[in-house]
Amino acid sequence: MQTQEEIINLLEKEDQTQVLRFADQLSDQQKQTLFDQISAVDFSMIREARKPQEEEKEAVIETLSTMTIDQIKASREAYETIGKKVLSEGKVAAVLLAGGQGTRLGYDGPKGTLNIGLTRPLYLFQILLGNMEKNLEGTGRYMHLYIMTSALNDQATRDFFREHDYFGYPKEYIHFFQQEMAPALDRDGHMLLADKDKLCLAPNGNGGWFRSLEHNGMIEDMKKSGVEWLNVFSVDNVLQNIADPVFIGATIACRQYAAAKVIAKATPEEKVGAVCLRNGRPSVVEYSELSDQMRYAKDEKGQYLYNYGVTLNYLFHLQKTQKMAQKHLPIHKALKKINCLDEQGHLIIPDAPNAYKLEYFIFDILQFFDSILSYEVVRQDEFAPIKNKSGVDSLDTARALLVNKTGITL
Ligand code: UD1
Repeated sequence: MQTQEEIINLLEKEDQTQVLRFADQLSDQQKQTLFDQISAVDFSMIREARKPQEEEKEAVIETLSTMTIDQIKASREAYETIGKKVLSEGKVAAVLLAGGQGTRLGYDGPKGTLNIGLTRPLYLFQILLGNMEKNLEGTGRYMHLYIMTSALNDQATRDFFREHDYFGYPKEYIHFFQQEMAPALDRDGHMLLADKDKLCLAPNGNGGWFRSLEHNGMIEDMKKSGVEWLNVFSVDNVLQNIADPVFIGATIACRQYAAAKVIAKATPEEKVGAVCLRNGRPSVVEYSELSDQMRYAKDEKGQYLYNYGVTLNYLFHLQKTQKMAQKHLPIHKALKKINCLDEQGHLIIPDAPNAYKLEYFIFDILQFFDSILSYEVVRQDEFAPIKNKSGVDSLDTARALLVNKTGITL
């Protein structure tokens, strides 16, 4: 625990004393709240984000070969047998990434609590649990599910599961853990205040999942219970295929320690990260950072070269990933509209992007594996994300895809 004096020294060293601008106006209690927040800040992340952008040497981007749907079909039974064995031995755990803010959807509450039913309640969390249970049928066991939340939605998520009696899943198999928060920075790299006693904080991206599991002692718990593989997935895809034995079996059969489910992109503009090799290492370029040159690059047959996009469903070998997770991950800075205080202490509600949000991305860990399995899935079977209020990737499109695939009444 740092003293207030130590924190002030740290802020001076880091050129961040502006966050104490209104400290004189705060009660002792409020001051303590602010100091507690500052002492939890990861200053190495800020330092990294403030470094002048070096002219990155032109990276060599190449295609990463993908196991196609037809190739999977040919070995499906063999893969399934391997995957089912591992599942029935309890060697797989699931990690649900649910710490995001879901800003684009504009839904007030943890995204997983979204009700997509029309004639009855049917919640995203409930659907995901159901999808997972379907794959566990016949394995004779439950699987541990670790749910990542953030300080912004942790309590609401836990309360929601409790109020719904964990949707019938044994609650001792459901574990919640919180990811860390990252400060928003102004254009000069200074931390912003949300209030006189509060930093502007946001979840630090989905790439912090492994370290947050570790900080919470959960990796050790997993090892003790014999877990060897982690299936990590996003909250917003109603067709998310969790604990898929064919995927698990294919990864093991191909002697890989990391694997990503991918789809053939519907259009070059689709908002999914593109798999590729970057300087010879497995990599994903996020849609928000994809250059037009890469987006529209074609081979000699006229096919798009970087046509496979990740669905955000990964399989990681626990022991190997633990080593990789100690390595340095890049920080992604995105300029966003973020409410904050100005120098006089007035709240600014910006109508144009004014501040940087700092995030780690889950797929950046892939570069540390010598190779990975890029595994193609059938879009209509496994990809129905809810990202936007209307139009593409919305509640309406996801409902239609879910009904089409499962025939259920919503
Ligand atoms: C994400 C993927 C993208 C993929 C697409 C598929 C990343 C960085 N992006 O994009 O490559 O093609 O889904 O639909 O993986 N999350 C947290 N904590 C955070 C931020 C996000 O847990 O701090 C979780 C969200 O709750 C969600 C998932 O990560 O489950 C995806 O987050 P989101 O920011 O919506 O990613 P997309 O832009 O949709």
